[in-house]
Amino acid sequence: MKNNLILAIDTSCDDTSVAVTSGPYVLGNVIASQTELHRQYGGVFPTVAKQAHKENIAPTVTSALRRAGITWDEITAIAVTQGPGLAPALEVGIRAAQTYASEHNLPLIPVNHLEGHLLSVLARPKPRDANVQKLSSDLPVVKNALGILVSGGNTLFVQVKQIGKYEVLGQTLDDAAGECLDKIGRMLNLGYPAGPVIEQFAKLGNPKAIPFPLPLTMTKTYDLSFSGLKTSARNLLEDNGVLQPLKKQEVYDFCASIQFAVFRHITYKLNKLLVDQKFSQIWLGGGVAANATLRRMIRETIQANSDRVANPKLLTPYSKKLCMDNAAMIGVAARTKRIQKGGGEQIGRRPRWGLEEI
Ligand code: KG4
Repeated sequence: MKNNLILAIDTSCDDTSVAVTSGPYVLGNVIASQTELHRQYGGVFPTVAKQAHKENIAPTVTSALRRAGITWDEITAIAVTQGPGLAPALEVGIRAAQTYASEHNLPLIPVNHLEGHLLSVLARPKPRDANVQKLSSDLPVVKNALGILVSGGNTLFVQVKQIGKYEVLGQTLDDAAGECLDKIGRMLNLGYPAGPVIEQFAKLGNPKAIPFPLPLTMTKTYDLSFSGLKTSARNLLEDNGVLQPLKKQEVYDFCASIQFAVFRHITYKLNKLLVDQKFSQIWLGGGVAANATLRRMIRETIQANSDRVANPKLLTPYSKKLCMDNAAMIGVAARTKRIQKGGGEQIGRRPRWGLEEI
């Protein structure tokens, strides 16, 4: 194969994304956001997402190819998110990938969305003026890294034994961290998704104003739970079952306090994990990984355990766009898979596909 130019598609949730990648290099990464469509529901509405994916997919493919400066003739494989995610949404991406694969006689590579988020830290921007055909398509050799994935659908600690071999060390037992922030943001009328708004408001507030509880301190596991924090928030905001409006500064203090509580829960469990186990390096991915306070709190926790981590520098995706759902991470993860000619026909959506089943 001359060069590994992958066209990657992700329709796992509410964003239609298409990217062109070469090894770790991102040549084009286009995201057609559906946020405005779902805002009125305060969350993602699956059938609305499916319809929007259907409308967005072809133009998004065209603009990803244009952005990358690549034609179909140069593409060597198509990667697509097979799961986990919303079944009706996944279906659109998989169908499109199958159609393009048969039209252009290309192999299909099914990719796990969570593996994409994990490996997003390995993505690199295309070097300026680089000749695409001459870029190295190798990815680094990784052994015993710790992946922290914090998004709207998942919150987990994963041991990356090597690329493609994962063990989940701990995960949320209920809501994901981003989901918890979004739900509390809804109580505060902050719109959807609320995570980025909470980050901005938190800068103007006092994180110690409200002493939220620290969950699961008595358990020995590295599992997490955010539903108690959500209930505490509701109890504080409600009077006789009715949400009470707060004054401006009170909203800022509430945001700062709940954000601190959510992240302190993650770093408390991370600290426990680092006391118990050694790792070569630590990766952070997922939508909430865009949050500067979370990054700082995780860096501080790693610093406090720097003798337990060979490379104590926290690895994060090179841009915020790579933290959220995107197809570039799917293309990068696909690079680690063996390409099987004609494998595409067997691909079906896998809404609950876990990392350990890869
Ligand atoms: O990874 P992602 O785009 O979608 C999946 O869940 O797969 O993550 C979206 C989540 C939402 O819950 C959103 O509120 C949260 O990431 N998020 C943030 C920030 N940016 C996005 N949460 C806190 N601070 C942010 N800056």
